[in-house]
Amino acid sequence: MSQALHHEELPVCDVVGIGFGPSNLALAIAVTEHNARRGSAEATTAVFLERQPKFGWHRGMLLDDATMQVSFLKDLVTLRDPTSEYSFLCYLQSKNRLMDFINHKSVYPLRVEFHDYLEWAAAKVDDLVQYGHEVIAVEPVTVDGQVIFLDVTVQAGPELKRYRARNLVCATGLRPSLPDGLTASDRIWHNRDLLHRVGELADTLPERFVVIGAGQSAAEVTAFLHTEFPSAEVCGVFSRYGYSPADDSSFANRIFDPEAVGEYFTAPQSTKQLMLDYHANTNYSVVDGDLIADLYGRVYQEKVLGKERLRLFNLSRLTEVVETPTTVRVSVRSLVTGELTALDADVMICATGYQPADPFALLGDAGRYVRRDELGRPLVERDYRVEADPELQCGIYLQGGTEHTHGITSSLLSNTAVRAGEILGSVIARRGAALPALRLATT
Ligand SMILES: Cc1cc2nc3c(=O)[nH]c(=O)nc-3n(C[C@H](O)[C@H](O)[C@H](O)COP(=O)(O)OP(=O)(O)OC[C@H]3O[C@@H](n4cnc5c(N)ncnc54)[C@H](O)[C@@H]3O)c2cc1C
Ligand SMILES: NC(=O)c1ccc[n+]([C@@H]2O[C@H](COP(=O)([O-])OP(=O)(O)OC[C@H]3O[C@@H](n4cnc5c(N)ncnc54)[C@H](OP(=O)(O)O)[C@@H]3O)[C@@H](O)[C@H]2O)c1
Repeated sequence: MSQALHHEELPVCDVVGIGFGPSNLALAIAVTEHNARRGSAEATTAVFLERQPKFGWHRGMLLDDATMQVSFLKDLVTLRDPTSEYSFLCYLQSKNRLMDFINHKSVYPLRVEFHDYLEWAAAKVDDLVQYGHEVIAVEPVTVDGQVIFLDVTVQAGPELKRYRARNLVCATGLRPSLPDGLTASDRIWHNRDLLHRVGELADTLPERFVVIGAGQSAAEVTAFLHTEFPSAEVCGVFSRYGYSPADDSSFANRIFDPEAVGEYFTAPQSTKQLMLDYHANTNYSVVDGDLIADLYGRVYQEKVLGKERLRLFNLSRLTEVVETPTTVRVSVRSLVTGELTALDADVMICATGYQPADPFALLGDAGRYVRRDELGRPLVERDYRVEADPELQCGIYLQGGTEHTHGITSSLLSNTAVRAGEILGSVIARRGAALPALRLATT
C-alpha cells in the first residue's frame, strides 16, 4: 500500500474542481441536478475550490453599460437542459423581470445583469464550493505504481488544506497578457483591473490616458474613460486601421455551436488552423458594432465642436514606456511615416488580451503523466479529459486551454452548458454508471 494512504485518510471526491468561474459553476449545477435525480446511492461527490473570497466574474470590467457578447440562451444550462431551474429565464422570473426583459427585445443582457445571474446560480450550489481556497499544488497518490488519487493542496487564509480527487476539473480561466517587457504598476494597468484601480484617481484630475489595443476591452475602456473623466484626453493606440466589428452573423456564428466542437476536434491540423484563421474575427481583436458607432460619434462630435480629446493613433505601435514619479511617458511610432509621438499620461491601460492560465503549473508531479503534442500542449480527448500514461488512473479534465483541440469556444461561454454535461457524463460513464438524463449533451 502507498505511504500516502497510510499517513493520511482523506475522504475521496469524484470531482475536485479548481476555479469556480462560469465553467465550473455550470459543472456544479450539472452535478447537483444529477444527484437530485439519482439519489444518494448514485451521487457524484464534488467540491469546487475558488481563490476569490466570493463569486466574481471579471469584476474589474463590470462596466455599467457593457453588454454580453453572447445570447442569454447560452447560459449555464439551457443548451444542456432547457427545462433546468438554473436558467437565465428562471433567474429573471425570480427577480420579477421576465416581462421587462422580453419587452427590451435584446438577447444580449447587460454584463452586470448576467453577473447577477451567475451569483444567483452560484448561491444555489453553495454547498459544493469553498471560496478563499487557492489551489497551490497537486500530488499523485500512488499504489503499486498506479496513481489512484490526486491530492490537492489549498491555501485557505493561514491554513493549508487537502482534498483527494478521483477526477480533477481545471477551470482556472485566463490570465492578462501585457506587451513584452512591461509589468503592471501604479501607472501601467491591464484592463482586467480597471474598476479595481480607477478609484485611486478619485482625488486627482487626470489629464491624459493612453489605451493600448483595438479589441472589445480596449473599446469599452476608451469609452468609459472618455465619459468618466470629461476633462481628460483619451488616446487609443493600435496597429489596425480602425476598430473592426465582431462577426456575429448567423452562418459564422455556427462556429460556436456544440457540433462545431466535434468537427474541429476531428479535423486535420491544417483545417483546424483554417477555422481559427477564417473566424478569429468572431472573437479576437474585434468590437461590437454599436460600440464602434458610439466611439465614432464621439470623435465626430468633437471634430464639429473643435475640441478633440478622443484621439486615435491607428497604424501605430508602442515603442517605449518610461515611468516617472508623476507620469508614464508612452512613445508611439506611426507605421506610415515612422514619426514618433511622446504621450505623457497619468495612466496607460493595456487592453492587450489574455492567455489561458496554465493548469500544468499546478499539476507538479502529476503533470508528467500527461501526454503532449510537439508544441508541448496537452493532448485532450473529445470528453475534455487529458490523454495520459496508463499509470494515471485518475481523470484530469480541462475547461479552457483547449483551443488547439476543441476550437474557439474553449475560453468562451457559448458551449459551457454542454461541455459541463459532457464532462460529468464522462466522469460517470468511466465509473461504470449510465447517465440517460445527460444524453442530450453527449450525443
Ligand atoms: C471582460 C470580459 C468579458 C467577457 N465576456 C464574455 C461574453 O460576453 N461571452 C463569452 O462567451 N465570453 C466572454 N468572456 C470570455 C471569458 O473567458 C468567459 O466568459 C468565462 O470567464 C470563462 O469562464 P471560466 O470559468 O472558464 O474562467 P474564469 O471566469 O476566468 O474563472 C476562473 C476562476 O478560477 C479561479 N482560479 C484561478 N486559479 C485558481 C487557483 N489556483 N485556485 C483556485 N481558484 C483559481 C479564478 O479566481 C476564477 O474565478 C469575457 C472575458 C472577459 C475578460
Ligand atoms: N462586454 C463583453 O462581453 C466583453 C468585454 C471585454 C472583453 N470581452 C471578451 O474578452 C475576450 C478578449 O477581448 P480583449 O479585447 O480583452 O482581447 P483581444 O480581443 O485579444 O484584443 C487584444 C488587443 O490588444 C492588441 N495587442 C495584443 N498584444 C499587443 C501588444 N504587445 N502591443 C500592442 N497591442 C497588442 C491586439 O492587437 P491586434 O489588433 O493587432 O490583434 C488587440 O487589438 C474576447 O472574447 C471578448 O469578446 C467581452
